Amino acid sequence: HIAVILLAAIVFLLVLHHNILGLSDVLKSEDSDPSRLVPQNIDSPPDAPRKVHEEGPGKEVAVVIPAVEDRLGGLIAAINSISSNTEANVVFYILTTNDTKEHIRSWIDNTDLKRVKYKLVTFDARVLDGKVRVDSGAEPVKPLTFARFYLPDLVPGLKNTIYLDDDVIVQGDIQDLYDTPIQTGHAAAFSEDCDSVTSKSLLRGAGNQYNYIGFLDYKKERIRKLGMKANTCSFNPGVFVANLTEWRRQNITKQLEKWMELDVVEELYSKTLAGSITSPPLLIVFYKRHSIACRF
Ligand SMILES: *[C@@H]1O[C@H](CO)[C@@H](O)[C@H](O)[C@H]1NC(C)=O
Ligand SMILES: *[C@@H]1O[C@H](CO)[C@@H](O)[C@H](O)[C@H]1NC(C)=O
Ligand SMILES: *[C@@H]1O[C@H](CO)[C@@H](O)[C@H](O)[C@H]1NC(C)=O
Repeated sequence: HIAVILLAAIVFLLVLHHNILGLSDVLKSEDSDPSRLVPQNIDSPPDAPRKVHEEGPGKEVAVVIPAVEDRLGGLIAAINSISSNTEANVVFYILTTNDTKEHIRSWIDNTDLKRVKYKLVTFDARVLDGKVRVDSGAEPVKPLTFARFYLPDLVPGLKNTIYLDDDVIVQGDIQDLYDTPIQTGHAAAFSEDCDSVTSKSLLRGAGNQYNYIGFLDYKKERIRKLGMKANTCSFNPGVFVANLTEWRRQNITKQLEKWMELDVVEELYSKTLAGSITSPPLLIVFYKRHSIACRF
């Protein structure tokens, strides 16, 4: 009898835990609470010997991260979380728009961040003209949100990079993420939103926020014609590793732009978007064409 109660309690806690995580995903765009934690690296328990990087501090680990003016606290928290957990030679490429660049620069000079290696990169928001649907009454989406679609243009000299949203806290060594193997022919590695336990047993029927159908309008012919399974697990657009060589070769940016433009005309995204507005084009373009990054 007690065992049954105990089991029920555990299941309840798991569901609660998952719901909280899910909720914070939904709130991500409004709320940049830096306490939202990225799950720990399951591959390296805390007592495991720390990986030694033979190549020393010379090899650059590039991290691209947006600096949105009204949540700079999140930016600091994210950068500090990376710097304090790694010995790697991390260089941050901090994205700004033309009109906020000078403000961000002077602001950084007055914070601890001036001690990390960083470069300011300007994202020209004009490339988004005609590509972002503005729903009447809705808060306009910040242009920097879409900068991740243009990675190869933003950091033209780089072959590989990590992209990170400014509301992510990294608890593991960023080097491990950077070293994520990306399959030949894949341009990026993402971590998927669902794992076998939550998707198969506990949350069956409890909504579809971790599936493609939570992001795309399957009533639209154009979406159905893609033949993507509606229950495919979605992935997190807030953290990924990209092979920019492959990204350029496959014209990923062009493909993403195509789906943005189509959405403006045909409203292809789910009305009750289950997460980031940047998810739908990424889910389409990278359907069965991305590697898996471990949760870290
Ligand atoms: C960026 O701002 C500077 C001065 O504020 C201006 O001269 C320049 O034309 C702007 N560039 C773009 C691409 O808007
Ligand atoms: C990136 O992709 C290019 C082109 O497909 C490939 O030659 C290269 O080995 C890849 N790099 C990594 C780190 O996977
Ligand atoms: C990418 O674009 C270039 C030039 O626009 C084109 O020549 C090439 O075929 C495209 N590659 C793919 C894989 O679509």
